[in-house]
Amino acid sequence: MIRDILEKSIKIALQSLNLDNAKNLVINLEHPEELSHGDYSCNIAMILAKQVSQNPRELAEKIVVEILKNKPIEVSKIEVAGPGFINFYLSPEFFVFQTKEILDLDKKYGKGNIGEGKRAIVEYSSPNIAKPFTIGHLRSTVIGDAIANILHFSGYKVVRDNHLGDWGTQFGKLIVAIKKWSSVPEIRKSETPIKDLVALYVRFHDEAKNESILEDEARTWFTKLERGNLEARKIWEVCVKISMKEFEKTYKRLGVKFDTAYGESFFEDKMASVIEDVKKLGIAKESEGAYLVFFENEKYPPMMLLKTEDVSTEHRASTYALRDLAADKFRKKKYGKDTIIINEVGMEQSLHFQQIIETEKLLGYVNGLDRVHVAHGFYRFPEGKMSTRKGNSIWLDEVLDEAIEKAREFNKETAEIVGVGAIKFNDLKRESSRDIIFNWDEILNLKGDSGPYLQYSHARAKSILRKAKEEGIEFCTKIFGIKIKHNIKKNSKEITDLEKMLYRFPEVVERAGKEYSPHYIATYLIELASSFNNFYGKGKIVDKNDEDSSCKVALTEAFSIVLKNGLNLLGIQAPEKM
Ligand code: ARG
Repeated sequence: MIRDILEKSIKIALQSLNLDNAKNLVINLEHPEELSHGDYSCNIAMILAKQVSQNPRELAEKIVVEILKNKPIEVSKIEVAGPGFINFYLSPEFFVFQTKEILDLDKKYGKGNIGEGKRAIVEYSSPNIAKPFTIGHLRSTVIGDAIANILHFSGYKVVRDNHLGDWGTQFGKLIVAIKKWSSVPEIRKSETPIKDLVALYVRFHDEAKNESILEDEARTWFTKLERGNLEARKIWEVCVKISMKEFEKTYKRLGVKFDTAYGESFFEDKMASVIEDVKKLGIAKESEGAYLVFFENEKYPPMMLLKTEDVSTEHRASTYALRDLAADKFRKKKYGKDTIIINEVGMEQSLHFQQIIETEKLLGYVNGLDRVHVAHGFYRFPEGKMSTRKGNSIWLDEVLDEAIEKAREFNKETAEIVGVGAIKFNDLKRESSRDIIFNWDEILNLKGDSGPYLQYSHARAKSILRKAKEEGIEFCTKIFGIKIKHNIKKNSKEITDLEKMLYRFPEVVERAGKEYSPHYIATYLIELASSFNNFYGKGKIVDKNDEDSSCKVALTEAFSIVLKNGLNLLGIQAPEKM
């Protein structure tokens, strides 16, 4: 990558000035806000000036003199600007060859190597059985899927895991409710089985307020489930099956797939060994009947592993936290100790994951760097604006239906991919930890920073390319054959802003992968598309009488490749027509 080349030449310059042993030396190369201020800007002289008590501008000049002694061929000009920035301008040749590289590499353009030889488990979606697939699970699904795509593109071996919520005391409640107010055949017959199960669960809570015996019954039934009672197992299995069928439909609509979906229940027989590890280390204690991990200096509140004993059966129910510990112990054993584990789960579980990671460090399951919680913020719905509001839960399928319905207004054929793409992009365009205020106008705005805007830009580029083909204007070989020199000379004064955006894609992918942050790609694509749309607005691209036309067509093709690769990483389809 060009950035690495520049970084290296700055390092060499610093070495020859004997400045390379300065403390915590980090070379920052940023893109100046204004494209006309150069392609990269470096503030190293300003950082070092303080340490060596020199004037930053003078130091910058000295560094530039050194860099120029071995100037990388990709660079045409280096300038000192402002209080001591070093600005780099890339050469016209660089941009032409970059376009060629995009066309040559096509689908592979942007592929990185930060993950080579490494493995990552990306755990996302993780809805709960017999509960609705919420907007929070949508966020996890969309962001987690994008992270998995990006890591895969960056060279990682990726395992996509769906950590289904299919175990826990809530199943005791559900079993009681089904037995009292419904039945397995009735649920099997239902057209809306999940909604029915949710209603039963809600009813359980309502009735338990007055009849506390229900809670005891639920505990007993969960005990039975944990101990393998056949009736309990049967009802549980039906709930799992029904829910999975519904979830599968949602995944199909979203175009999301998993490699594994162990679910919490899978770790049932793997919890005892975790309890043994905890005991050996002496980090947990009995307290008021429960078994909890206590943290040094009360860094975090205690974390419960086993609940208080059910007196009638002498059974201690396991907790969500214990299942998480068991899951990670299992993952490390199965996939190797260097495997990175990433959970994409809502912000409301941040404390839970801090406790889990701290405990796993103590247990020696992980080292800390290999354990990441990517947290997403909340969706906020402007009061009264959502037709999908039902009680307190918002059904994802209804949101998708509405998005598709709205997308149908501008094009029937692409409604499905535009509607789904719009919802996904809205989720990916800002840092995942931030909340989202749900606003249909913003989500579907063809001119703003939205999914449809990007898809439309892609379709526009494709339509230009179809026209070029009809008119017999080729872009690849002719431009980069003999004509290439001619074009470089001709355009040497004017490098388009589009070219100045295109070559940045690989470094954006790298950053998104390093920081597990798809939004870098999303915001980059918006900038890229707007530079393409400006380029398009400046004059005809396909024009037989214009000798630059083939060059412009080549840039259009390069743009469509980069945009498509970027959208693919975000899990969004790039339509040919719209
Ligand atoms: N099923 C949980 C929920 O819906 C999310 C699971 C997250 N993953 C985990 N390893 N705890 O809240």
